[in-house]
Amino acid sequence: MNYQNILANNENGISTITINRPKQLNALNKLTIDELHHAINAAQNNNAVRVLILTGQGEKAFIAGADIKEFAGFSRQEGKKLSSDGHDKLFNLVENLSKPVISAINGFALGGGLELAMASHIRIAAESAKLGLPEVGLGVIPGYGGTQRLAHLTGKGKAMELIMTANMINAQEALKIGLVNHVVSLSELTDFSIKMASRIMRNSPMAVGNAIRAVNANYKDGVDGYQEEINAFGDCFGTEEFIEGTSAFLEKRKPNF
Ligand code: CAA
Repeated sequence: MNYQNILANNENGISTITINRPKQLNALNKLTIDELHHAINAAQNNNAVRVLILTGQGEKAFIAGADIKEFAGFSRQEGKKLSSDGHDKLFNLVENLSKPVISAINGFALGGGLELAMASHIRIAAESAKLGLPEVGLGVIPGYGGTQRLAHLTGKGKAMELIMTANMINAQEALKIGLVNHVVSLSELTDFSIKMASRIMRNSPMAVGNAIRAVNANYKDGVDGYQEEINAFGDCFGTEEFIEGTSAFLEKRKPNF
């Protein structure tokens, strides 16, 4: 499919999806969300893809949020639908993907942009990145999962502070509060993200997918995470990759997944 607002490139098992509206600081409008939905599903269904990397075009922005120009005139009903469609099409899709998703945060990650990074499984930020949830300054609240996922990552107190002050923080502060996993220079961001993806790709994709499912279970209402772990653990047994991984150990060789 030809995309207007994103670039999708598959190389060496990694699908790099780049939000490509740099003049609008890669803001997420409806078309961009639809295209991301399509590209992420395509990567999920492509056996050659093992890890996804999300990033933004240019040096200024990862994503500066939902497209304010698009939703400024919305009614209450339309606002609710905007949020609910976003959860379904993109943010929950990313969080629950069985392939790892790394956000390479190359600049502003604000509002919906930070929310997409938070839905990802791993976040790597450039030193120059600025992160925040500025929504209350616009008379609205984070609507793409930010009120939930920020508290999961940083604890409730910091989440309340960041959301209510609408302050932007730099990458080092984000690292300190557990909002990002690593901070590297902008010039190293791509290589570092690829190295992280390559490290994950040495492991069993099936086991990695089951691990994502089990970790996520802790954050789902009404789901017993320990039971989900038991199920996901059991699901690994007898699979080709389990047989390869355990045989390789016993035969003192590297597994070939
Ligand atoms: N939506 C739409 N357009 C945006 C945008 C956004 N979120 N962020 C930036 N842009 C546009 C600007 O309007 C501007 O476009 P024009 O040239 O057509 O005027 C262009 O990108 C460049 O932006 P600035 O001139 O503002 O650049 P700057 O360097 O002066 O400021 C900034 C950078 C501080 C990031 C500023 O652009 C900004 O504050 N952006 C909005 C951030 C924000 O509030 N995000 C939350 C959105 S709401 C949301 O995400 C809701 C949700 O949870 C679902």
